[in-house]
Amino acid sequence: MPSTLTIEQLAYQTLQKGKAAFSLAHKTLAGRIGSLFYPAPEGKYRRVPDEAIDIARQRLDRVLETDWNDVDRGIYPASLLFDDAWQDFLSSYPMVWLDMPLIWDRLHREEYRDFATNIDTEGYPKYYLRNFHYQTDGYLSDRSADIYDLQVELLFNGAADAMRRRVLAPLKAGLQAFTDVPPKDIRVLDVACGTGRTLRFLRGMLPKAALFGMDLSPAYLRKATQLLSAVPGNLPQLLQGNAEELPYRDSYFHGVTCVFTFHELPPTARSRIIRECFRVLQPGGVFVICDSLQKDDVPELEPMMHNFQTAFHEPYFIDYIRDDITERMTDAGFVDVAIETHFMSKYWIARKP
Ligand SMILES: C[S@@+](CC[C@H](N)C(=O)[O-])C[C@H]1O[C@@H](n2cnc3c(N)ncnc32)[C@H](O)[C@@H]1O
Repeated sequence: MPSTLTIEQLAYQTLQKGKAAFSLAHKTLAGRIGSLFYPAPEGKYRRVPDEAIDIARQRLDRVLETDWNDVDRGIYPASLLFDDAWQDFLSSYPMVWLDMPLIWDRLHREEYRDFATNIDTEGYPKYYLRNFHYQTDGYLSDRSADIYDLQVELLFNGAADAMRRRVLAPLKAGLQAFTDVPPKDIRVLDVACGTGRTLRFLRGMLPKAALFGMDLSPAYLRKATQLLSAVPGNLPQLLQGNAEELPYRDSYFHGVTCVFTFHELPPTARSRIIRECFRVLQPGGVFVICDSLQKDDVPELEPMMHNFQTAFHEPYFIDYIRDDITERMTDAGFVDVAIETHFMSKYWIARKP
């Protein structure tokens, strides 16, 4: 019914405009208050030219359009557009502000190994034991997991989920290789699933498929369990572990995704994880990576990338934005590597021969 679609589209656009305006106001206010207490040394941040802001704005509009178009062409239901991390806004937003002075203080002191004594740091890779984003407890507490989704949404002006959903169309297209497999026997793994946002979207698109998620953080997996069981649908199987040694047997999955994680890994871990994704995929299986834009994708946005890695403690970002991920994928055995970019993200889509 076209009139219903129009109303849904309007509702989506209005909601997204509201989120973008709120995020901008939030970042402006937080920036001003933060710099009152901890003024940044001259030259620490780069000025973002108006042209770059315009380009980012246009890219934001386009990703939202693409999000809607993918609903229109039946890739996933419109309900996914309204399944968002802002539903817990009233409980999460005050916590975002409560954490802010601690983040400013760590940023000012450039302290990124600040873990309270009650946080169990045993058994994690060294590169992981950091306060990414200068956030309290890194990825290792329920408190961090409770505010992470909203923090990412605010960072991306309300479009983090729209960027996550860009893995859906290429994944669905790749799964066409398995039309002889009944939908309930299709297995899809989300590597480093965090709080389970991508799994929720995967479940919306593939309601019958067997979904799996894994992550190093027990706290983020607890949050994922909570978020995934809050709405009806098959529960994905979640496992705690290191993606450098995926806890699954060879050739098990038809599809594998990995969202917003590669920029937080040192280069050797990136290669190991890509090789593991290759190992656990069936021949013909599809692998989709989503992560930040890289240096030369939209050169005008480089000042934003510089400011992001400076303000957010992202120690592997500079290496990541120069990295040849396609080469790492082909070295692991992947073929037909295709690339897309949407708003601030880049996507690598590949097949196991
Ligand atoms: C920036 S978050 C992205 C989370 C989620 N994919 C999303 O879209 O929000 C990075 C995630 O990668 C996980 N992670 C980092 N290194 C990992 C590793 N070696 N194995 C498994 N998970 C890892 C972290 O615990 C965290 O949940």
